[in-house]
Amino acid sequence: MPKRILVTGGAGYIGSHTVKRLLERGYAVTVLDNMENGNPLPFDVDFVEADIGDTPKVREILEGREIDAVVHFAASAQVAESVRDPRKYYRNNVLAGMGLLDGLMDAGVDKIVFSSSCATYGVPDAIPIDEGETQVPINPYGWTKLFFERILRDYDAAYGLRSVSLRYFNAAGADEDGEIGEMHDPETHVIPILLEVALGKRPGFSVFGTDYDTRDGSCIRDYVHVTDLADAHIAALEYLFKGGRTDAFNLGTGDGISVLELVDAVERITGKKLKVAMEARRPGDPAVLVADNRKAREILGWVPEKSSLDNIVETAWKWHSRKV
Ligand code: UFG
Repeated sequence: MPKRILVTGGAGYIGSHTVKRLLERGYAVTVLDNMENGNPLPFDVDFVEADIGDTPKVREILEGREIDAVVHFAASAQVAESVRDPRKYYRNNVLAGMGLLDGLMDAGVDKIVFSSSCATYGVPDAIPIDEGETQVPINPYGWTKLFFERILRDYDAAYGLRSVSLRYFNAAGADEDGEIGEMHDPETHVIPILLEVALGKRPGFSVFGTDYDTRDGSCIRDYVHVTDLADAHIAALEYLFKGGRTDAFNLGTGDGISVLELVDAVERITGKKLKVAMEARRPGDPAVLVADNRKAREILGWVPEKSSLDNIVETAWKWHSRKV
């Protein structure tokens, strides 16, 4: 019998790519998503439309389907919105998440992989960022992720719920088959915005800040391909099934790319010249976020093999240009 994994938020961007990889790898999958941010999945999978905070429903799903472990993506994930409306973030990401954990524990499920974020580090003291870096978030979104990591650690100590928290850097790119990709509403992420400019759906692109202390003055981020992220969740599940202890891992490539370098890559790969304006800094953007990924490589055996800049932009372009 294949192991059955419950994927919360499985209709979202990273969730849907993980569901696809789990199915390809022979796992049985149940998706739980309230469809607030999700998109219908283009492949066959056991799907329940419900909220993670609905503990009786979660318990019923877990007990009825003999779930072996949970991968928990469901969350609100826009930094700026979290500053405007923190109540939504603490309610969805902490309170509803605790409801999910109640359902897990009631049903005797004791393994969970959690979507955390490099936003838990705030403005880091050192680059590249390793997992020992101080975690002082600079926005409510980051705090909700950090609180949930803390809850998971305490729940292991008290109740034996083992977990892996995966701290994503900048998720990017799309499934190589062009079947699923990144689609947010509203879109705030840099690569989809650049591609929408290339497609003529937006008049131009604004570089937020050109006076940072970086090689070209624009912000540097660590873009990691969504399929590599998906594979890290499978590695984390396998680690937990083998008895691995509760821990947290950075998921990034270790290579920083600047916003201006992204503009060049998008122009080269799409063959379109973009209208680009140099604008003021966006509040709350750290100058550089780059991962030290040695821990995930060593302990999970994870290698971000699809995360070259060209592959990220090419797969994202294939997805975005297909939608026209
Ligand atoms: N950027 C622009 N112009 C745009 C959009 C973005 O110049 O139109 C720049 C941003 O200023 C930033 C970079 O592109 O320097 C990346 O911005 P994104 O909004 O794509 O991503 P962030 O780095 O802000 O956000 C990511 C994740 C969040 C996570 C955060 C941690 O998407 O989930 O990192 O800081 F919380």
